[in-house]
Amino acid sequence: MIGEKLIRVPIIGSTNDFLKENWKLFPHGTVIVADVQTTGRGRFNRAWYSPEGGLWFSVLFKPRKNMRPNFYTKLSAVSIVRSLRPLKVEAKLKWPNDVYVDGKKLAGILTETIFEEDRLGAIIVGIGMNVNNEIPKELEKKATSLKLLVGEELERLSVLSMILREMNRALRVYSRKPEALTRVWKNMLIQKEGQLICVNVGGETLKGEIVQIDDESITLRIQDKTMRLSSLEIVDC
Ligand code: BTN
Repeated sequence: MIGEKLIRVPIIGSTNDFLKENWKLFPHGTVIVADVQTTGRGRFNRAWYSPEGGLWFSVLFKPRKNMRPNFYTKLSAVSIVRSLRPLKVEAKLKWPNDVYVDGKKLAGILTETIFEEDRLGAIIVGIGMNVNNEIPKELEKKATSLKLLVGEELERLSVLSMILREMNRALRVYSRKPEALTRVWKNMLIQKEGQLICVNVGGETLKGEIVQIDDESITLRIQDKTMRLSSLEIVDC
């Protein structure tokens, strides 16, 4: 069960780093949650500001079967969206797995893998969600928090337990049919096939029509060329 072992710490560098360094000591499903992270990390090696009031946690997966790491990222994203519904917060996913509400980012996911002797040892899924923490002025147009959306402070650990409950439920349902998870995930995406989007690929901005969306790549039609792109970030046009 995810969360059966739960470690709570007031302050840490990064919950992902903690599990990366100590994964062998803990069982599958271990969760570590911190009040504050001093060196929180986001995707593309960006710093992730993690002050008091936010929900910063990581989950350790030690898959028996050869499940792709991406399965766990999608599972987490879908579970976050579902866990917010009872709060009447309708979230969507910005490809690949950012959680957005009304055009503003509420949560992000950083998945990291550990290989040992060429074999997948563990998958660590780190989740950062703005719950009661203040959104810095310069980010007000781009980011939001649950407190802003719901109109009152929420108990962070109750939010965590709602997410973990959905993750456990989703694991039971989708472990045997990962393609069903992909369908659910795709339905939650803001981006749809046929849409015009702008992407940043290695510092270059490209604009094109989405031909196909996969979990690790997006195929764009740019003028009369079709390009399959991975490691990209969707940006405002
Ligand atoms: C992103 O959107 O770039 C992903 C952000 C992931 C942040 C979380 S907070 C808990 C865990 N520990 C980290 O250092 N990062 C993740």
